[in-house]
Amino acid sequence: MAIRNIVNFGDTILDKKCRTVEKFDRKLHMILDDMAETMDNANGVGLAAPQIGLLKRIAIIDIGDGLVEFINPEILETSGTQDGMEGCLSNPGKYGMVERPNYVKVKAQDRHGKWFELEGEELMARAICHETDHLYGVLFTSKASRMLTPEELEEMQNEDEE
Ligand code: CO
Repeated sequence: MAIRNIVNFGDTILDKKCRTVEKFDRKLHMILDDMAETMDNANGVGLAAPQIGLLKRIAIIDIGDGLVEFINPEILETSGTQDGMEGCLSNPGKYGMVERPNYVKVKAQDRHGKWFELEGEELMARAICHETDHLYGVLFTSKASRMLTPEELEEMQNEDEE
C-alpha cells in the first residue's frame, strides 16, 4: 500500500466526470488499498478517485464504523434534508454549510464486482452524496449556502480541543 498525493481544489481533474470501472482486478484492489491508506493518513471520512488523480467511478467512506468501498455507485433514493458543515480533503481547512438529504439509498459494486445496496442516514448520507458528487466533477463548494468564517473555524477548533 502507498499514500497517494491528494489533488487540491483548482485542479481541473476534480471538475471532470469519471469513467465506469469495468475490470475488478488486482490493479483496482491496489487503488482501493492506497485510497484507504491515503484517507486514513489525512484523517478523512471519505475519498473519491479523482482526488488521487484517477477519473474512475470509485469512492470510499469510513465514518468510524468500518470502511465501505463503492465502485460505480448510483444513488437510488433520497429523503428528508439536513443542513450541516461539510469539508473536503482536497480543500483543507475550509468548511461550508451544505444542505443534503438526510437519508440515502445507494447501489454500488464491491471490489469483486458484486452489486450491493446500502442505506445511510445523517453523516453517512452526507458522505455518500459528497463522494458520489466527486465522480460527476461536482464539488461541495458549488452546493454550499455559505462558507464558514475564520472566527467560526476557530470556535470549532476550540470545541474540538475541549
Ligand atoms: Co471531497
